Amino acid sequence: MRSLPHLFENNKAWAGQIREQDPEFFSKLSQQQSPKYLWIGCSDSRVPANQIVGLAPGELFVHRNIANLVVHTDLNCLSVMQFAVEILKVEHIIVCGHYGCSGVQAALRGDRLGLSDNWLRNIEDVRQKHQTRLTNTNNEAHDRLCELNVIEQVLNVCQTTIARDAWQRGQSLAVHGWIYGLQDGLLRDLNVTVTNFQETQSVYAAAIATFAVREK
Ligand code: CO
Repeated sequence: MRSLPHLFENNKAWAGQIREQDPEFFSKLSQQQSPKYLWIGCSDSRVPANQIVGLAPGELFVHRNIANLVVHTDLNCLSVMQFAVEILKVEHIIVCGHYGCSGVQAALRGDRLGLSDNWLRNIEDVRQKHQTRLTNTNNEAHDRLCELNVIEQVLNVCQTTIARDAWQRGQSLAVHGWIYGLQDGLLRDLNVTVTNFQETQSVYAAAIATFAVREK
């Protein structure tokens, strides 16, 4: 209970494997990091950021929370973004959701989980905003809400002072919205890539317009 020896064994094996391929790997990496990407994803254990996109340590700056939300008052997420954009100068922010997200499911069904209900309220807001674009069948509505949630979070990223200031300075920054399939391990681009503040609203509107409004 007090120690987890198998995890330390795994770690030793992992570090050994990497050193075998590149004996200098860790010493080089300890000097500096220069990732090009910031990943904002779900905490879900089935969606491991680096592995999904095949990136090594040092190549991906990561923030994860339940249901990959970008909330304007979340100092944690904002600090990660600010550090990534202003200090590390990442060129891409990837908001990555996933199908089968328990956070989205809970928000869709109005489940009571506890404290996290307050966090998931942000997704309920997305659901209410796009009520007419969500179908009655539960599975379909779940998938669409996962996608809409990503699109809304991309919009939130673009509206932060961090992204706006970067664009204002002429810094190269693209914000992407992707979704990951637990069932096939594949990523899909939701075509909501924003590369400057001026195009934010039109890119957002075009992405939302691909969701058919449900007939009454
Ligand atoms: Co999730």
